[in-house]
Amino acid sequence: MKHQPGFGGKQAMTQGQPLLEPVLVGRRRELSSLWNQFEESLTGQLRVALVAGEPGIGKTRLVREVARRAEQMGVLVLYGGASEAEGMPPYLPFLEALGQYIRATAPDALRTQTGAMASVLATILPELSLRMGELPINYRRGSPWYEQLS
Ligand SMILES: Nc1ncnc2c1ncn2[C@@H]1O[C@H](COP(=O)(O)OP(=O)(O)OP(=O)(O)O)[C@@H](O)[C@H]1O
Ligand SMILES: [Mg+2]
Repeated sequence: MKHQPGFGGKQAMTQGQPLLEPVLVGRRRELSSLWNQFEESLTGQLRVALVAGEPGIGKTRLVREVARRAEQMGVLVLYGGASEAEGMPPYLPFLEALGQYIRATAPDALRTQTGAMASVLATILPELSLRMGELPINYRRGSPWYEQLS
């Protein structure tokens, strides 16, 4: 049997993802269901998919395949992960995912996209103020936003 670098043994990793992954086997039904949801989301509708299953059954691999295909279409895919460890900060997956976006996006574009919500968003995403500088204060203790975010 020929030696195939990257297979067997320990796989080379980049940002926690294997550089070389074995071909995805099966999962056609699951892939097509997730892809349909993804395509519907392209029309501006919000879609949330929950993938559940036993440890090691292939949840991450499946979702990564969908992300890979979306990226090939030029879609921006952001990643965030939660953990079951005690003390996980609230909103961690969103902070991770949006943090990547904030770091990679020009301040002017961030300003346009966040609009009047900038200071509200900065309360859970402090990186926003670092990138955009001083933000107008429209967020006060006791406001509906404060109640929702705290
Ligand atoms: N359909 C598949 N085809 C080929 N390899 C697969 C497939 N599904 C999973 N694998 C491989 O099996 C291993 C475990 O899969 P994965 O990490 O996706 O499981 P998981 O359900 O996310 O596990 P956990 O519950 O621990 O997070 C990985 O090495 C992955 O590449
Ligand atoms: Mg997993």
